[in-house]
Amino acid sequence: MKKEQLIFDEKYVGALTVHHVSKFYGKDNEIKALNDVSLQLFSGQFVVILGASGSGKSTLLNLIGGMDTVSDGEINIAGVDITKLSEKMFAKYRREVVGFIFQFYNLMPNLTALENVELSELAGGMKAEDALKMVGLETRANNFPSEMSGGEQQRVSIARAIVKNPTVLLCDEPTGALDSKTGKKIIKILKDINLNKDKIIVVVTHNSAIAEVADRVIKISDGKIVSDQIQKNPKNIEEIEI
Ligand SMILES: Nc1ncnc2c1ncn2[C@@H]1O[C@H](COP(=O)(O)OP(=O)(O)OP(=O)(O)O)[C@@H](O)[C@H]1O
Ligand SMILES: [Mg+2]
Repeated sequence: MKKEQLIFDEKYVGALTVHHVSKFYGKDNEIKALNDVSLQLFSGQFVVILGASGSGKSTLLNLIGGMDTVSDGEINIAGVDITKLSEKMFAKYRREVVGFIFQFYNLMPNLTALENVELSELAGGMKAEDALKMVGLETRANNFPSEMSGGEQQRVSIARAIVKNPTVLLCDEPTGALDSKTGKKIIKILKDINLNKDKIIVVVTHNSAIAEVADRVIKISDGKIVSDQIQKNPKNIEEIEI
């Protein structure tokens, strides 16, 4: 078996290593969106990445998720450096290994909730109906996004991400467009997904209250990690105000 098949065939549970990764923009690389970042992420850990606007949070998440390419460094999972994958395998990584949740849901407006989730179904994997059930939306399967509240649309987008049973679940400001109560519901669903301890789950936010429920909080500023701390006793979602 080719080494890179491991990421796909084994549904690898373990660690993902970001090794001296940088992302530069501008004609002289003068914008250092991410500047020599190294970290290791482990499955089962609910990680929150905190940072101000422009600090490099989305850049880091996009690189881990295979949505963008590094300027320098390596990202290893299952002993495979994803920055060296062929375009075809890189797309396969993005499609089969990574689930992505965005601030503004990114649902297809002309497809129903069920059809949106079906888009991400993989052969032999979970069924779209079951993923919708997991987020409590089985009765809304035939509604279009425009017929749903923001929180419901975000739940559809969570279903779309988890239907493929991703090894890596990446959430970029998942509560950014929601009121506090609805935002807490979304974080609760993500925490519940984490109970299985089989995924690397990363939530990016500038809301420090959300960090209180995390197993680990990584702070990023100006493209660099400035602190990385384990929280032995994270709070329950009911105890926080976001
Ligand atoms: N395509 C690009 N071209 C030039 N600069 C970029 C590009 N994408 C991001 N940047 C810059 O890189 C830095 C990090 O951006 P990034 O989007 O990662 O920040 P962020 O922490 O996610 O911010 P926010 O909280 O506002 O979403 C910013 O200074 C941004 O302006
Ligand atoms: Mg961002």
